[in-house]
Amino acid sequence: MKSIPFWNPLPEYEKIATEVHTAIARVLSSGTLILGPEVAAFETSFAQYIGCRYGIGVGNGTDAIILALKALGVGQDDEVITAANTAIPTVAAIMAVGAVPKLVDVLPDSLLMDPAKLQGAITKRTRAIIPVHLYGQSCDMDTIMKIATSKKVFVIEDCAQATGAEYKSKVSAKGGPAYGRKSRKSKVGSMGSIATFSFYPTKIIGCYGDGGMITTNNPALAKRVRSLRMYGTEGTYNAIIEGGINSRLDELQAAILSVKLKNIKRWIKERQRLAHRYNQGLKSTPLILPSQPQKVSPFEANSHVFHLYIIRHTKRIEIQKYLRMHGIGTAIHYPVPIHLMPAYSKLGYEKGDFPVAEGACHSVLSLPLYPGLTDDDQDRIINALRAYFK
Ligand SMILES: Cc1ncc(COP(=O)(O)O)c(C=O)c1O
Repeated sequence: MKSIPFWNPLPEYEKIATEVHTAIARVLSSGTLILGPEVAAFETSFAQYIGCRYGIGVGNGTDAIILALKALGVGQDDEVITAANTAIPTVAAIMAVGAVPKLVDVLPDSLLMDPAKLQGAITKRTRAIIPVHLYGQSCDMDTIMKIATSKKVFVIEDCAQATGAEYKSKVSAKGGPAYGRKSRKSKVGSMGSIATFSFYPTKIIGCYGDGGMITTNNPALAKRVRSLRMYGTEGTYNAIIEGGINSRLDELQAAILSVKLKNIKRWIKERQRLAHRYNQGLKSTPLILPSQPQKVSPFEANSHVFHLYIIRHTKRIEIQKYLRMHGIGTAIHYPVPIHLMPAYSKLGYEKGDFPVAEGACHSVLSLPLYPGLTDDDQDRIINALRAYFK
């Protein structure tokens, strides 16, 4: 029996191999390896794709959050609010700048930050909110931006899992500097004060290695990030900002990402098609399927880019073992909520503090979903799950 891995980068690579090899050869024969024309070109085209004025390439998605916090002046003992079910790096980045993560629970259907919990979490020490567009879907940015604006706190969108996802923008809402653009829809990463992306290989577009990006419409912030990613320097060997680090996207990865960006629309459509097939194939089972954004009108529906296709069931470990026996790989995003991880016990939270996030951590299971997953393989996964419940 042929096994179906949870993730397989090869079908995507095989489709773009010639272009990728040409791009790599171009960089290697140019002699410029760091912060050259490839990075500049990718920063411009990525920012354009997101609908932002500035893009700044950095080393990875975790550094992107650290740099965004530093650029906003968030540091020692400031409070930063994020979701209790986020990926570890969101919280690790907050701690890395000396700030204190404050967690809020998530909505039961989408598992995204619950804006109703935000108000109560904001204190005099709150400097920023990090909504995490988890699994590939936008948070409720209208409400989050309204709360952030009224409380005068920054919003850093963590878009690591949602490159290309769209939010049903309402132009009338008041928000941060990047908010309220004319288009009826906004891509994630264009609505907050600043936004961060990851190009880890499994992401919507990924490097053959590590990479990340920051987007913003604010020229002063963009300038600070550019300096902070390179030791805090401006020009050659002259540090102008304290707290700089070394976190640069390199020329090779930027050249590869430029090839991938040309394909992003097609790949997102393919992810959505596969998700639709799962929805149809699994709707008769007791599994909880990913929440579908409500379509109010052609302009008023969020899009889900399905970085991850998450099913939920209380017997997910048994289901995972059963699928493994049938040669099908799965993963769990994530098995433990942040507040119950040993590294974050000092934050002072207890079991039961975030019941929705805790419940999700006990029931979520990620199924294989990537461009290149064949319909035949997906049918095998669907049929195995249906047979499990017979
Ligand atoms: C929500 C979220 N934020 C941040 C990151 C960090 O990205 P990176 O692995 O590129 O540092 C990830 C990566 O998995 C993520 O899923």
